[in-house]
Amino acid sequence: MIPPKHVAIIMDGNGRWGIKKKNSRNYGHKKGLVAVGNIINAAIEKKIEYLTLFIFSTENWRRPINEINYLFNLLNIYIDKEIKNLQKKKIKIKVIGNIKPFPKKLRSKIKNLEKITNSNKKIQINMALNYGSRQEIINSFKIISQKKLKFSEKNVEKYLYTRGIPDPDILIRTGKTNRISNFLIWQIIYSEIFFLNKMWPDFTKNDFFKIINSFLRIRRNFGGLNDRNN
Ligand code: IPE
Ligand code: IPE
Ligand code: MG
Repeated sequence: MIPPKHVAIIMDGNGRWGIKKKNSRNYGHKKGLVAVGNIINAAIEKKIEYLTLFIFSTENWRRPINEINYLFNLLNIYIDKEIKNLQKKKIKIKVIGNIKPFPKKLRSKIKNLEKITNSNKKIQINMALNYGSRQEIINSFKIISQKKLKFSEKNVEKYLYTRGIPDPDILIRTGKTNRISNFLIWQIIYSEIFFLNKMWPDFTKNDFFKIINSFLRIRRNFGGLNDRNN
């Protein structure tokens, strides 16, 4: 039983949850943030080294501007409120994705957060912001071709946002939808995938622990033959 090092989560279902409770998608986003806090603590308890959270996809720009602004505003408030706490808990924050199109003030806040948490060692949280797998892979290909390097798996990985980070052992998606939505398609080739019916704001520490326990019972082959089935 090798414990998981990297857990990636597609935190889906905020909007539907919010509509059901208060007829407001944004209310769901607000409560989704509470679940984020709980799961960060759960991941620390389980000694997970990397937690990757899908927060905003390259396709989420298709949403109404008021929802996009609400999400940016939440992130702004979250950083202001949590920055000290993240430091105290020795959490390192890294962005994966392209935050250039984000509002300038938010961008510099995010950059500052990355900078000041950079040497923290307890857990690394990868915040996927304006992240899309295809964009990430094309970006890597461009660099490889500019540098006239060989197109090898090693070189492609070297120029992904996730450079140096082990592939996710576990991928979780809440929200009753069994799809990947352009998330980490290069990195999840051997991830164990858990699709949950629960909406993200309802996802608890206990749900997280249950998934970790199920994972520990899985025999992973990576295309080879596991000792026990020879
Ligand atoms: C996921 O929840 C969070 C973001 C994409 C920011 P959704 O907002 O997609 O919620 P549903 O899927 O519409 O319920
Ligand atoms: C995936 O959820 C993106 C995030 C959780 C940030 P979406 O709600 O955007 O995915 P689709 O559109 O249902 O595939
Ligand atoms: Mg959704």
